[in-house]
Formats: sequence, structure tokens, C-alpha cells
Amino acid sequence: MVNFEYQTPTRLMFGRDAIKKLPAVMERFGKRVLLSYGGGSIKRTGLYAKVKELLPDYEITELSGIQPNPKYDPSVLDGVRLCKEKQIEVILAVGGGSVLDCSKAIAAGACYDGEPWDLISGKVKAKAALPIVDIITLAATGSEYDCGGVISRTETNDKIGYMDALLFPAVSILDPVYTFTVSRRQTAAGTADAMNHVMEQYFTGESTLLNDGFMEATLKSLMVNVRKALENPEDYNARAELMLDCTYGCNGILSLGSSYSGWPCHGMEHALSAYYDITHGEGLAIITPRWMKHILSEKTVERFVKYGVNVFGIDPGLGKFEIAERAIQATYDFFASIGIPMHLKELGIDEGRIDEMARHVAENEGLEYAWAPLRQRDIADIFRASL
Ligand code: NZQ
Ligand code: ZN
Repeated sequence: MVNFEYQTPTRLMFGRDAIKKLPAVMERFGKRVLLSYGGGSIKRTGLYAKVKELLPDYEITELSGIQPNPKYDPSVLDGVRLCKEKQIEVILAVGGGSVLDCSKAIAAGACYDGEPWDLISGKVKAKAALPIVDIITLAATGSEYDCGGVISRTETNDKIGYMDALLFPAVSILDPVYTFTVSRRQTAAGTADAMNHVMEQYFTGESTLLNDGFMEATLKSLMVNVRKALENPEDYNARAELMLDCTYGCNGILSLGSSYSGWPCHGMEHALSAYYDITHGEGLAIITPRWMKHILSEKTVERFVKYGVNVFGIDPGLGKFEIAERAIQATYDFFASIGIPMHLKELGIDEGRIDEMARHVAENEGLEYAWAPLRQRDIADIFRASL
């Protein structure tokens, strides 16, 4: 087991009607609030009206229209400008991972005098950030329980993930009822995203029994509950389990003490989203089985055997490569079965920019994944196999 330090300062408030605690939560932070949200789902679900009703005495400035794969310009820049102009004291992010990620970048940018991109690109380390409270409405990223954010800059085809301990939300309110309205497509994509978060940690050189069990159970819970949620979008227990699975996925708790191997599928997917603005979870679902096939070798096969036997119940008496190949096929089949388009062409991506994207990944993401290193040529091959 390797050494680690771990702290997640975020308070989770989970469950039906958790939003009733919002006034008490907000009292701690001051009256000047930036309310950030996306393209309007929170208005259609009544959540926007509820927030306004619960915070009658607050000075609320709004930043709306934050897009999926949130953009530096205009959303981050507008948010930072508003925070400075209105002397905002706390950001209330209401929506999916994109709204929350954008709000994290704004929280740091608002306390910085230079160009906010310096912080996102890692050129400068933030010294302070505004506190963030969020009400998460989509089970997927785990942004509500981690200190990372992912921001896209269209003109340079960059989609950069950055982390800073200052950016843990102070409080995350999670009411599964607010996810009842998430579309079939986003429900499936969010599940695929969370499954890949687990897999990026599972497929590593050295893990522990505890971590493996935790991750295998999380994968199984995601697969069982997404089917229930797709069948009945208002199945509270299914939505609740999905939500908590996703919350655990990304903040490192699943791999404490394991050796770190990197997040190769995320590195590749971020290029696809940056160039083609696709849905993150769909890009991951397409790439993951192709990546698995590409890296299957004598060195990696035992992890795939463990995965195949414990997650998919494949007969442990079969040969190890047979188990591994069946496990990879089962991964593909599962994503297909929940309605995810499993070819990049279906998302409008063709051969045209594959080499350019592979170069972009190699130059920007770093590919020294200890367990299964990739070169630029491998990335291009994985993209081609995903077409
Ligand atoms: O914009 P609105 O109108 O709110 O609609 C959104 C959006 O169109 C809609 N939606 C959200 N909640 C809803 C709802 N529709 C109906 N009912 C609801 N309750 O869903 C659409 C997608 O929303 P988005 O926030 O983009 O989805 P998600 O939560 O999957 O976030 C994806 C972003 O997070 C990044 C991804 O790269 C991507 O940019 N990630 C962030 C991570 C992190 N911070 O730790 C880790 C992840 O690996 C990921 O990279
Ligand atoms: Zn992800």
C-alpha cells in the first residue's frame, strides 16, 4: 500500500427535501450571492423558483446559460467580472457538473487579479477562492465532492482539467428527486462517466482488497440502478443510489493507498470534447472498451480477469485471456444496452482530425501511465478503433 494524505472538507446534505436546509447553509457566507446555472433546466423543474423562494433577503446576481463542456469565454470570464463588480461573497451553483465546474473556475478567478486562465492552466496557483454551495441536478461527474473542474477554450481546442484544494464545495445539496427529469441520454452518459471514473482507478498496478471491493460494488450498483432509472425515471431509490455512486467516483476515496496510474480515457475524451463538443460520458463509453482491448497484454491481463469475474460474473475456470476478452465485450455490450451510441461516427466524428487530436493529447495530457503507457500512435489507434 502506498502512503497518502486525504481530506474532503465538503459537507454532503443528501436526500429528499434536503433543499429545505439551504437558508441555514447560506447564512454562513454572506448576503451577496452569484447564482450560476445552465440553459434552463432548473427553471423547467421549478428548482429556480424554489431557490428564490428560500432566499428572499439575499442580493442575488445571476449567471445563466452555462453550457455543457463549460466555456472559458464567455461563462468563466462573465462570472469573474460579475463577482468582482458585485462583490460577491458566495457562489450558489445549481445544475449539472458543467455548472459546478464553471463555478469553481469563477470562484478562483474572482480572487485573482490576473487572467483567470493562468489558474486553470496551472501557470499560477490560486491563493484564495470564493466559497461554493451547490445543488447538483445530474448524477455523473462527482464534481460535488471533489476539487476539480474542467474548462474548455474553443479557440485553442483545449479542454483542461485542473484541481485545487481551495475548490472543494463547502456544501453540496443532493436531492435525488431533482434528477428525475434528467433525459435518458444524459442518465446513461452520466452513468458511463461515473463507471469510467471507477475504472480509471481500478485498472492500475497495485490496488487493495478494500479498494477493489468498493470499486466493484460501485460498478455493480451503477449498472443495476441505471437500468431501473431508465425504466422508471422516478424510481427514488435507483436515482439515489446512482447519485451517491457518482459522488464517490471522482474524489480519490476509491483508491486511497493504491498506486496511481493516471486517467488515460479522460485524457483522450477531453480531446474529443474539445474538438467536437460531444457529451463527455458518451465519448468515454466509446473509448473505454477500445482502450481496454489495446492495452490487454500478459502484464495487464490479471486485472481484467479480476474485473471480469467479480463485476460480470464470468466463469473463473476459463482461460485468463478468454475471461479478459469476455469482460471487455461485456463492458461494450453494457454501454450499448443503455442506449449509448458506441461509434464516434454517430457523434459526427470522422477520420479527419484523428492524428491532430492524438498529437494534442500526447502534448497536453502526458501519457506516462505507469500501468499501461501510451504513445501518440497508440492514441491514434484507439481513436481509429472507436470510429
Ligand atoms: O444546462 P441545463 O439546462 O441545466 O441542462 C443540462 C445540460 O443540457 C441538463 N440537465 C442537468 N440537470 C438536469 C438536466 N436536464 C433535466 N433535468 C435535470 N435535473 O443536462 C445537460 C448536461 O449537463 P452537464 O452539466 O454538462 O452534465 P454533466 O454533469 O455530465 O457534466 C459534464 C461536464 O463535467 C466535466 C465533463 O468534462 C463535462 O464538461 N467533468 C467534470 C469532472 C469533475 N469536476 O470532477 C470530472 C468528470 O470526469 C468530467 O470531466
Ligand atoms: Zn469523467
